[in-house]
Amino acid sequence: MAGLGEALLTTVNKLQDLVFNTIGKEYHPLPITPPLTLYPGNDSLDLPQIVVVGSQSSGKSSVLENIVGRDFLPRGSGIVTRRPLILQLINVPSEKDEPQDSEVHIPHTPASVAAQDEFAEFNHLPSRRFYDFAEVRREIENETARIAGNNKGINRQPINLKIYSPHVLSLTLVDLPGLTKVPIGDQPTDIEKQTRGLISEYIAKPNSIILAVSPANVDIVNSEALKLARWVDPTGKRTIGVLTKLDLMDHGTNALDILSGRVYPLKLGFIGVVNRSQADIQTSKPLAEALSNEREFFRMHPAYRAIAARCGTQFLAKTLNQTLMAHIRARLPDIKARLNTLMGQTQQELASYGTDGFTGKEHRGALILQLMTRFATSFISSIDGTSSEIST
Ligand code: GDP
Ligand code: MG
Ligand code: NA
Repeated sequence: MAGLGEALLTTVNKLQDLVFNTIGKEYHPLPITPPLTLYPGNDSLDLPQIVVVGSQSSGKSSVLENIVGRDFLPRGSGIVTRRPLILQLINVPSEKDEPQDSEVHIPHTPASVAAQDEFAEFNHLPSRRFYDFAEVRREIENETARIAGNNKGINRQPINLKIYSPHVLSLTLVDLPGLTKVPIGDQPTDIEKQTRGLISEYIAKPNSIILAVSPANVDIVNSEALKLARWVDPTGKRTIGVLTKLDLMDHGTNALDILSGRVYPLKLGFIGVVNRSQADIQTSKPLAEALSNEREFFRMHPAYRAIAARCGTQFLAKTLNQTLMAHIRARLPDIKARLNTLMGQTQQELASYGTDGFTGKEHRGALILQLMTRFATSFISSIDGTSSEIST
């Protein structure tokens, strides 16, 4: 059921949002020690998401932009992505005035975005909506530099960006710094180790689907993305292979064997794409044109013609959406158990400090807990139809 799947994804997105709104900030909502279990440092809920990995310049950002259908990611040679970018794509109806999920309201999430076409929001700038995606790119650049500095170093603190659009499928994607072998410029000498550590942390989570991006013009046995993925997912059950740069392969060669699953075993398979080239970017080739060229490329190619329906960005986006939904369903019992534990602990702690006399920040903390509880409750009931196992 597409409806249920969408509802599930929406709820997971909201939960993710809540977790980030809560733990991503530097204030502590209650003046207490030890800190609430809600603040474990990262993401104790381990929500399902798609994590993009690959070596530098393999085409990760291009793939993400194609999926979103917008130019919004910083570009350039060398290491551009220097902080994790957690990107929530939220499908919203275009014309119809359907209020979404009116029972649960999260701060900064519009009750209805029906009249809006497409816009973006950052967690670190909650009151501002971006309609101009060139500004989104500038903000990512500024926010990257603000935390990670202006040198080439990386920083593990994520940037959280939501894109609301009628033209996207609901997905949560994480863009990570690319793997580098050799430090460039004033990068720290252990940059490879740092990057590997950061990537490993994201892809090691059993709830992560790994989008392993490898350029087709480099021998697949040398793919850093696949090496890393295999390390945390040895049976290849939650890794999707993406082959970029199919247009740049040596004349007379093709990747049909890889795309057909005869070379490298991945249960979710490989999908080939053609992104915009550096020249396309320099001449500002519109994305829509690039996507239509990509379709033509597969339709007309002697080797790929027969599998054209299972190639390209559009098929990739659809596959990701379906995989994420299937994955969420499979992980539900586990997520549910974690939520129950988390809620139980949180409520115990809250109870032990009393609930009277909250003001200012403290009041905000209490509010967050209430919201968290409401979300968890509605999340759980949306999963199994029972009203709730955790009472408030
Ligand atoms: P990232 O470092 O992995 O995020 O890689 P980018 O998406 O920034 O791409 C690096 C470079 O490769 C850019 O110049 C892109 O234009 C180019 N590129 C990426 N994918 C393709 C592709 O499929 N075909 C061609 N010709 N160029 C590509
Ligand atoms: Mg990039
Ligand atoms: Na790679």
